Amino acid sequence: MSAIVIVGTQWGDEGKGKATDLLADDVQYVVRYQGGNNAGHTIIVGDTTLKLHLVPSGVMYPHVTPVIGDGVVVDPGVLLGELDGLVEQGLDVSRLKISGNAHLIMPYHREIDALSERKLGRQKLGTTKRGIGPCYADKASRVGLRVQDLYDMKIFREKLDAALQHKNAILTRIYNRQPMSQIEIETEYAVYAERLGPYIADTGSLLHDGLDRGENVLLEGAQGTLLDLDHGTYPFVTSSNPVAGGAMTGAGIGPKHITNVIGITKAYVTRVGSGPFPTELHDEIGERMTTIGKEFGTTTGRQRRVGWFDAVLARYAGRVNGLTEHFLTKLDVLSDFETLKVCRAYRYQDQEFEHFPPHQTAFHHATPVYEELDGWTEDITEVTSFSDLPKNAQAYVERLEELSGVHIRWVSVGPARRQTLERSV
Ligand code: GDP
Ligand code: IMO
Ligand code: MG
Repeated sequence: MSAIVIVGTQWGDEGKGKATDLLADDVQYVVRYQGGNNAGHTIIVGDTTLKLHLVPSGVMYPHVTPVIGDGVVVDPGVLLGELDGLVEQGLDVSRLKISGNAHLIMPYHREIDALSERKLGRQKLGTTKRGIGPCYADKASRVGLRVQDLYDMKIFREKLDAALQHKNAILTRIYNRQPMSQIEIETEYAVYAERLGPYIADTGSLLHDGLDRGENVLLEGAQGTLLDLDHGTYPFVTSSNPVAGGAMTGAGIGPKHITNVIGITKAYVTRVGSGPFPTELHDEIGERMTTIGKEFGTTTGRQRRVGWFDAVLARYAGRVNGLTEHFLTKLDVLSDFETLKVCRAYRYQDQEFEHFPPHQTAFHHATPVYEELDGWTEDITEVTSFSDLPKNAQAYVERLEELSGVHIRWVSVGPARRQTLERSV
């Protein structure tokens, strides 16, 4: 019995979808444990490209049961649309299980997310406007509606009534908008209830029984360590816990089952939305990285900000998540850069920080201390073993490993499943 956690080590979009899909070969369950449809995970197998937002990345495999865990926030209309799209692509989605404890994203969550961003103006967080923050806020305030409420319309109606009194006051008095109609929401969600019924399950027991039988579970994080509500660059974070600890609460299993925590780490860094980013590039090198790496968001289509690899962040992610190994992605994007910079520390007020600074001001004003490595010019997308990579590419990976302090076990050299090199310890 074992459970493996897959966690983004940066600000999301590290390639978790690809890594999860690859590693799902050996497991019986793939579980999304937090976040919602703010996530966008891309999987490419042969000619098929899947862009997943809520459905776990193991869905391609007939032997895998995809699970949406307790810690996820579910927009039922979006989920049903995604399932319909997957069926159109020829996939069997009937194995999906959804926890009744997962919270429901409601129309007022989406509306308040968008309105509060607009109100913030230049101070906005740059959220995905999917209603994630307002939904988790209601969960913490204990006024949220859960998936299981869909199956007792009396409870659903009572909870919705209480929520709407408050939300409509906010919409009308603070934002000067129209109130939302209880009956319209009820009618819409009753349709969702009927269609989602077959997927609802006691996912905690399902996973415990599986682990007891010696089956394997892959816990697929969304977002990344620096977007974590407690450990990220607050307030420029998401409203859940993507870190490995979040996998325990979000799936409802204990830490004793976890054998590996795999950090998905891009060979450079990207970020979507607002917030500090010490190694960000604003020059033509950054533009090249954006173009070659196709750094545009899977969910919102927004251009991602790009920057050099940041070993301080990698070290931090190693500690916060208890990483046992890294899965390094997008090394191929760095081919043909004459010199590659790697941030080994930050400088702030004449002080050097090798570890993530404890105070936000130091991080916001940190300037990177770089070391330079020679690049390589060869196309590496068809390379099938680490030792066949150009020497400078090998040296780059080895240096990242040394600086981050955690073994880099996999190196990804293209988006496809087969474009992955596994190294020995
Ligand atoms: P996620 O949110 O962490 O799952 O990552 P996304 O799917 O949002 O973004 C990662 C993008 O990089 C996707 O378009 C992947 O297909 C792509 N990708 C993943 N690994 C590699 C790689 O090694 N090389 C290249 N060129 N693209 C990759
Ligand atoms: P995956 O799983 C990258 C970012 C948003 C914004 C902040 C808060 O594909 O890696 P939210 O809508 O969550 O309240 O927005 O978090 N963000 C992501 N950035 N990848 C993601 O998911 C993200 N999910 C949220 O851009 O800055
Ligand atoms: Mg993504």
